[in-house]
Amino acid sequence: MSSREYFTYKGVSFPHGAVTAKSIFQMENEFQILDDDVIIVTYPKSGTIWMAEILGLIKQKGDPTWNHNLITWKRSPWIESITGLENALLNPPPRILLSHLQFHLFPKSFLQTKAKVIYILRNPKDVLVSFYHFSIFMKIFPDPGSLEEFLEKFLSGNVHYGSWFDHVKGWMEMKGSPNFFFITYEELQQDLRGCVKKICHFLGKELNSQQIDSVVEYATFQKMKENKMSNFSLMPDNIVDHKKGRFMRKGISGDWKNHLTAAQNEYFDRVYRENMQGMNTTFPWD
Ligand code: A3P
Repeated sequence: MSSREYFTYKGVSFPHGAVTAKSIFQMENEFQILDDDVIIVTYPKSGTIWMAEILGLIKQKGDPTWNHNLITWKRSPWIESITGLENALLNPPPRILLSHLQFHLFPKSFLQTKAKVIYILRNPKDVLVSFYHFSIFMKIFPDPGSLEEFLEKFLSGNVHYGSWFDHVKGWMEMKGSPNFFFITYEELQQDLRGCVKKICHFLGKELNSQQIDSVVEYATFQKMKENKMSNFSLMPDNIVDHKKGRFMRKGISGDWKNHLTAAQNEYFDRVYRENMQGMNTTFPWD
């Protein structure tokens, strides 16, 4: 099988090269989540690395030295990836971990702990556009084809990590649990300082005003774009094609308006409504 195709694990698609059925199985069934772990969970392209930068800064009380000297996947290991287990075990507690797994594939040990999950959502139309460009940039992902073709794959869940709808619906079942906090990319954009304070509150971390200012300063798009430990410029050439794009692409909300036609937008809305029926949460894009 070509490495540019997906494999499926319990009905969810994954690309070869970053995760394997074994690495997912190990996470699902064997990995021990610890009480003081904080796990960032997202559907891809929703602001995962942004949150990793924020949590790294909060952990260091606003001091950017750690974030500027250690690559993001060592600071906050992507647990189900091939090197995730090794990186997670290298980190002394309290750990910052990250995962894109749907709820039903997430480490079973989680439910027996007090570990905290921060779940980030983003307008799925912006996720689609960001994902499309990312798929062109990532050599290990299948060719996304045209945006029209990718839209079809995205809405049917035939992409990396499966359906956005399933991901969101599965994780939002945790809403109301004291160890689950959800936030949107759009809220982070509108009021980063306010969000940092809410996150500190959820984590039980007390930062003074100057420390919060520093977290906000170093978590801006521009500062992160300059941080080679977070901007993916150090990703090896066999994984990404640096000539075809960059990870820190635009960092805005509403870019979908520059890409989707009126007909594609209507189609998206129809599928969205069908899939999200019965969800009793309103999001900034609704
Ligand atoms: P775009 O492709 O729309 O620019 P993930 O980390 O889940 O893969 O998400 C990547 C997206 O988050 C990219 O979106 C990236 O530019 C954006 N992003 C990363 N850091 C950001 C920041 N500090 N501010 C705003 N957007 C950020």
